[in-house]
Amino acid sequence: TELDAKNHNADKGEFKHYMLKEIYEQPDAVARTVEMGAGDKDLKEEFLQRHEEALAKVRNIQVLACGTSYHAGLIAKYWFENLTRLPCSVEVASEFRYRNPVVVDDTLVVCLSQSGETADTLSALRETQRRAKAGEIKGLTTLSVCNVATSSLVRETDIFIPTLAGVEIGVASTKAFTTQLAALMLLVLKVGKVQQRMESEQLTEIVTELHKLKGLLDRSLNLDQAIEAMSQKFEAKQSTLFLGRGVQFPLALEGALKLKEISYIHAEGYAAGELKHGPLALVDKDMPIVVLAPKDSMLDKLKANMQEVHARHGELFVFASESSQLVSDDRLHVIHVPDVNEHLAPIVYSVPVQFLSYHVAVMRGTDVDQPRNLAKSVTVE
Ligand code: G6P
Repeated sequence: TELDAKNHNADKGEFKHYMLKEIYEQPDAVARTVEMGAGDKDLKEEFLQRHEEALAKVRNIQVLACGTSYHAGLIAKYWFENLTRLPCSVEVASEFRYRNPVVVDDTLVVCLSQSGETADTLSALRETQRRAKAGEIKGLTTLSVCNVATSSLVRETDIFIPTLAGVEIGVASTKAFTTQLAALMLLVLKVGKVQQRMESEQLTEIVTELHKLKGLLDRSLNLDQAIEAMSQKFEAKQSTLFLGRGVQFPLALEGALKLKEISYIHAEGYAAGELKHGPLALVDKDMPIVVLAPKDSMLDKLKANMQEVHARHGELFVFASESSQLVSDDRLHVIHVPDVNEHLAPIVYSVPVQFLSYHVAVMRGTDVDQPRNLAKSVTVE
């Protein structure tokens, strides 16, 4: 709202919408968040230093969140399990809080929230803390990754990792999401390090790649116009699919959420390997399908999935890495995204996904920053 904007002293400046401004702020916002924890070749010594004892005893990770923050959690699960071999579960807070979940001893509960005031996330945290206090869970540690340092969530968790996104006004979260991912990777590395679950070479490699994100995100912003042109193909559509595999699967979910929340086009995110188990039945010449195709260990499998869609006359819109050798063809539109480390790809691919929903929404004339029926912060159940 206008009042919010004034209070936060945020200005749209040259941008038509807050969402667009916030998309463009991501290179700096992510770099700030990375700098908080990443040194030259290793984590900064002071990063989470006073929590090392608590993090050293963690045997299980439980992520709790809602909406876009939930999708950041799903990506972090791939990171935790791949890089540290610690089990990680992710659940929407509204389900977790009511279903009497099993929380094993020495769990780290990670609450993800832009606002830190989301009612379901807070209640899920409080319910878990109550059970720990009652002796049902031993060795519980709670942590928040949050964009508002003064929020309830931050006050009520043992450990706090800030996302340094700055104020986010657009209801559809953009920079809060990518900074959550940066903060989560720092957490994964910290846990991997204190528990000696990661080789130092691998740690150095990812730290080095984290520092490259600013440049890669800057270059991704250059895709703005190409994606605007592509968006025309979506304007009159009623339904779309977003496909990804591996760590990009949650980003497919996020892409679908973004498109539906601001353009009101029905969209579903799917793990590409699940195509045969249902969504393939929807594919025809009127169905645009967005594919997230970075160069990674899943690319060949993903290409086979694209073939399945193409054979059924679906129109493919592919965000692919520059080195993937995918080129545009009949019913195949390829947009090249900068090459990026396999783990960190969802951070860079967020930009084209955000641009797509933004431009489609603008073309359809919806209220991009304040979509109907939605609120920035859901503080009631
Ligand atoms: C609302 C917003 C979403 C956000 C979700 C969780 O639904 O519209 O953009 O992802 O709440 O909010 P949080 O502040 O907890 O991240």
